[in-house]
Amino acid sequence: MTTSSQLPLPPFPPEGEVGKILLTEEQIQSRVAVLGEELARKYQGVTPLFVAVMKGSVIFVADLLRAYHGPVEFDAMVVSSYGDALRSSGVVKIVKDLDTPAAGRHVVLVEDIVDTGLTMQYLLNHFEQQGASSVAVCSLLVREGTDTAGLRIDHVGFEIPHDFVIGYGLDAAQIYRNLPFVGVFTGTVDH
Ligand code: IMP
Repeated sequence: MTTSSQLPLPPFPPEGEVGKILLTEEQIQSRVAVLGEELARKYQGVTPLFVAVMKGSVIFVADLLRAYHGPVEFDAMVVSSYGDALRSSGVVKIVKDLDTPAAGRHVVLVEDIVDTGLTMQYLLNHFEQQGASSVAVCSLLVREGTDTAGLRIDHVGFEIPHDFVIGYGLDAAQIYRNLPFVGVFTGTVDH
């Protein structure tokens, strides 16, 4: 750690860690504005409960809430399906549940990316079992070719190819969530 205010900050992300920028900050912001409006129209007259699926949706949900014009409640749950690897462990685990009971609520699950759909399928079942009045899914990203037949992904920001991506909440081994764009990760996970 260095505290010098004289030296220029090193480049971030470092050279070679990010390849193609798939979505610029501007593209993301204008799409989020549209999603916010779409949701506000859909839930007119009720107060939905936005549930951020942490940690990946942290940036998205903050912007989406501000793009939502109307009364809305917010809660977060922490779910783990990937560990620190780049491949799914195939096991979904609720690390932290909601503080707010979901029974009788109109729940909007806010996700960063639907990849295999495993996490969403698990959470949809979870909230239906909890007695939510309705459960909708709003995902910033959906992987092209994901079998969404049995999955209700009601609101989608963008479809993206199969590359592992980082930024705007998405991480590689917990790093790079704070990039304002979404880009292809070309580094190693060894930080
Ligand atoms: P699913 O259960 O396979 O749909 O995976 C969903 C979760 O995997 C997401 O919420 C992310 O945390 C993680 N994930 C999937 N693809 C990526 C990626 O390209 N970059 C970062 N995280 C990813």
